[in-house]
Parts: sequence; structure tokens; C-alpha cells
Amino acid sequence: MKTIDHINFNSKKALIRVDFNVPLNKDLKITDDTRICAALPTINKIVSEGGSIILMSHLGRPKNGYEDKFSLKHIVNYLSEKLNIKVKFAHNCIGEEVTKIASQLKNGEVLLLENLRFHSEEKTGDKTFAERLSKLADIYVNDAFGTAHRTHASTSIIANFFHDKKCFGYVMANEITNLEKVVNEGERPITAIMGGAKVSSKITIINKLMDKVDKIIIGGGMSYTFAKALGGNVGNSLVEDDKIDFALSLISQAKENGVELLVPIDSLNADAFSNNANTNVSEIDNIQDGWMGLDISEKTKKNYRKAILSSKTIFWNGPMGVFEMDKFSGGTKYIAEAIADATSRGSFSLVGGGDSVAAVKKFNLQDKVTYVSTGGGAMLEYLEGKELPGIKAINS
Ligand code: 3PG
Ligand code: MG
Repeated sequence: MKTIDHINFNSKKALIRVDFNVPLNKDLKITDDTRICAALPTINKIVSEGGSIILMSHLGRPKNGYEDKFSLKHIVNYLSEKLNIKVKFAHNCIGEEVTKIASQLKNGEVLLLENLRFHSEEKTGDKTFAERLSKLADIYVNDAFGTAHRTHASTSIIANFFHDKKCFGYVMANEITNLEKVVNEGERPITAIMGGAKVSSKITIINKLMDKVDKIIIGGGMSYTFAKALGGNVGNSLVEDDKIDFALSLISQAKENGVELLVPIDSLNADAFSNNANTNVSEIDNIQDGWMGLDISEKTKKNYRKAILSSKTIFWNGPMGVFEMDKFSGGTKYIAEAIADATSRGSFSLVGGGDSVAAVKKFNLQDKVTYVSTGGGAMLEYLEGKELPGIKAINS
């Protein structure tokens, strides 16, 4: 794997694709800086070696050109503070003015370009656009793991213009190393904990994991589709009726593959989707009409903890319940703590995906798991065994 450690950046201009697609609140303040902090070591290393840096990223999904709320200008000051360098900002990512600012960059200086997606050519992977970006620098560094599953101009196409002058940054290198510890080098037993609202968004990954892991733990909203598939009454719980057959096929596929598939036994139910709702507990296959399951309950928690503590490799994606509401955060917290305990006893644990990362942070356990991924979709596609375009472009 060719990384920034294999290149000398002294007096060179590095064009780094980062993933600064961070959540901003209504006041345009950053609410989770994980992705920015993750990129700092790469930037610092190149600066300390005497190189200059041009950072490029997307932010959000702008529809048609400039939209103020998606401007990367909102993160310049924050980035400057974190780097302890006054970061320059260009109000576009291509064009005469950008070329001029980039060419005048001195060693040790950092320039952030405006959101790449203000140009539709970014997402279409336009060659001319990629070439124009490439002209800004000597070396291309891809450190945007979160966007590595996109065949965009700045993540993939651009690499063609750098021949041997391209490499991975530390975020990419760390992600690949740690994900390999789950998919190809995982010590057994390997357990995947899959949560989240819908079976439909996790179908491919659960399917693919069947060949790779020993246990799959199911939680979150999709549990109720499984419970209904097994003949249960799930009241008003979220169910994807068109995924019932799929849930059944997963259950039989697990049997065939000798994978232990754990589904919830009991459920914490509410009479409304609200933190102020009345609650009761029932077996998951016996939820009263008018009630909906919003979290796992005690028997399931204990069961899952036991499975987690007996695993050597643990991968977690997706919450166990509606953890954003305190009343229904208990299951997710309990599982996060079980993963932390297993980690302290020597297991390898990797957490990824927006909601699960938000959950470990909410419970302040981010330092008690082995690795927190900066990727959502990219991480899942990697685990599915796909070759990500952003990785392929550097390797080829
Ligand atoms: C993400 O947050 O998933 C990445 O930054 C990629 O963004 P996208 O899903 O809009 O391509
Ligand atoms: Mg995404």
C-alpha cells in the first residue's frame, strides 16, 4: 500500500482529497468533527515535511450549483484552529483565481477549495474537470475513505493524471488496515452486530457477511420484520412486509452456513413514537396492537452480551433501538458497553456508520473500542468485498 510515508513532500504541492462532509447544525456549526480530526495527521505530516497543501472535499448533496449552507467556508476557521495554521480558502475549486492562489502557496501553507459538488462534473466523474483539478498540484493524496465508494472526479478519475505521484493518506491506510482485520484477518469467533431501522438497507451486507462471520446479531427496527417473519405479533412496530421472505431466507441461509443468527427475544414497547410515551415490555412476538417496539429488552441484552464477550472480532453497524430518545437508548448503550468490555479483554472491535458512531460518542465509549471508522456506505461496501473506486485508483 503506497502511503504518504513513501513520498517526500518537501517543496511539493499536495492535492489531498479529504472527506469533510461533516454534519452542521442550523447555525452552521460543526456537530461532529470526527472526519476533520481524522485528517489532521496526514495534513500535519506533509506540512512538517515542508510541503504545501490543497485540500478538496464535498459537503452534503447540493443539487444545482452553489448553496450557502453547503459551502466549505463554514469549516475554515475550525480547521485553522485544529491545525494551528491559518488555512486559506478559495471560493471555487477550479478557475483562474484558484490556479493563482494555488500557484502562490508557500511551503507549509494550506489552502481549502470550495465544495467540489457545486460543479456537477464532480459526481459525473468528468475527465476535463478532474484534469483541471490535477493541474493544481504535483502529488495526489486520497484520504477520503468516506467517499471511496464513489467514482467521482476527485476520488477516482483524477488519479489517472498523476501516474506514480499518487498515494493514500493515513485515514485511508488506517481504514484499510482495520477493515482487513474484520474481513480477511479476523480472529474467530467473528461477530457482526447489525442494527438500524430497515432490513432493506442492510440486505446486501448481511448476505455477504454470512460467508465471513460466525455470529450475526440483529437489532433495531429491522428486528420486527424478522419477528413477523417468524409468525409473531409485532403490533404497530416498523415492518417491511416486502422483506419478510428475505428475512426467512436469511434465517435458513444462516443455518446452512453454520452461522449463529441471533434475533431479539423481548422488546421494549411504546404507545407512541416519543420519549414521553408510555412503555411496556413483552416477548418480541407478542406485542399488543397499538404498541410499537422501540428497543431491545433485558433478556435480549443479556443474550447479546454473552455472544459479544465470547467473540474475538466484533463489527458493529447500526443501533439496537431509537437511541436518540433516552427512554429507548438502553439497548444500544448496553451493547456498546459490552463491546467496550470485550475490547478491554483483548478482542478487536470496529464500529462504523453514522448512527453507531454517534451512539458510541453519546455514551463516551469511542476510546474503548479498537477502531471507529469514518465511513458509512464506503465501509459497508468494503466489508461486502467490493473493490472501492477510490482505493483502486491509487493501486492501479
Ligand atoms: C458520506 O457521508 O456518506 C460520504 O461523505 C459520502 O457522501 P455521499 O453519500 O453523499 O456520496
Ligand atoms: Mg452516504
